[in-house]
Amino acid sequence: MQNYIPLSVPNFDKSEVEYTKTAIETEWVSTAGPYIPKFEKAISSYVGSEDCAVCQNGTSALHLAYMEVGISRDDLVIVPNLTFIASINPLMYIGAIPVFMDCDEYLCIDPEKIEEFCSEECELREGELFHKASNRRVKAIVPVHIFGNLCDMDRIVCLAERFNLKIVEDACESLGSFFVGGRFDGKHSGMVGDIGVFSFNGNKIITTGGGGAVVAREQKSLDHIRYLSQQSKDDALRFIHNEVGYNYRMTNVQAALGLAQIEKLESFVSIKENNYNAYIEKGLPLLPFATHRCRPNRWFYSLFTDNKRDEVIGILKENGIESRPIWELMHRLKPFTPFGNISKQNFEKSSYFHKNIVNIPCSTNLKEEELLRVAETLKAVLLF
Ligand SMILES: Cc1ncc(COP(=O)(O)O)c(C=O)c1O
Repeated sequence: MQNYIPLSVPNFDKSEVEYTKTAIETEWVSTAGPYIPKFEKAISSYVGSEDCAVCQNGTSALHLAYMEVGISRDDLVIVPNLTFIASINPLMYIGAIPVFMDCDEYLCIDPEKIEEFCSEECELREGELFHKASNRRVKAIVPVHIFGNLCDMDRIVCLAERFNLKIVEDACESLGSFFVGGRFDGKHSGMVGDIGVFSFNGNKIITTGGGGAVVAREQKSLDHIRYLSQQSKDDALRFIHNEVGYNYRMTNVQAALGLAQIEKLESFVSIKENNYNAYIEKGLPLLPFATHRCRPNRWFYSLFTDNKRDEVIGILKENGIESRPIWELMHRLKPFTPFGNISKQNFEKSSYFHKNIVNIPCSTNLKEEELLRVAETLKAVLLF
């Protein structure tokens, strides 16, 4: 019996065990303890930020980020329709309304479509953008850096400036990716918009089991996010809370795991890069990353299957190999169908990619013989 090859699993060694053991042995297991500021410092220095605030997961981090940029009930927010649902759900918690946009050839939100929507379907009134048909305010853009590929932030930032929109970067999948060339040369994902959010979920390039982090252009925004994430406690002794708060702070055990992981992040990026190149050398039709605009972390690989998506997934499964289609497109999901046609745009590219793409094993501990087995199985079904 051949061993099972999963899609994307964590890669741990001694330091993860050592650090989490220390957290447990010293009994600092909750939302205080030395690993939390250490992990925050490690993330900050890796992405080139002054500070960052760690959370329970990327979803809670996005929720705080959306509130912090001032997104309120009934506001419209420009989002991609090709993303994981967690980019959108926190907007629902607030009562805001997603306006879905198609993707570009790198699977990221298409700035062309954003421009069309803002200039043709909206108008500026006293410095604020309003959607003409619904008379609702448009507040923000959420670029999601899909699979570690970076959005075209040069153009997106220009649009945000022109139409006075906030930017929350959903960098949940792109820790380790940074811009190359252009206005943001050398800047890490998450560091370009008003606020950036990372995830350390179990399938991400580094993991804390579940976890997230926020970086912000303004320190006072970050301080406020950290305050909100700890039940908005103003006086710890007398339990005085001056705002509605959230129990979203990361624990010391998660942070211990995260610290061990972030020490290996660059080595994980190079393994991902090598495995991507090895698949390409074996002839697999993987979508390219936008290397002209970034050094991608190459988190997830997208195989183009030429209308054989479900067949490919089925045959891989029969051979003990996990794979998956791209997420169902957001405008087709039941909770979001009422918002599917706020914009007059079509979803041509995302529908095309959705029909054709399969994510294939990309773990950083994938063995050479496993990679070969994936490639050989795919060759047989894709007939090349
Ligand atoms: C694009 C995107 N946004 C948000 C999230 C939410 O992160 P988390 O699972 O840590 O809540 C994820 C990952 O799961 C993601 O891939």
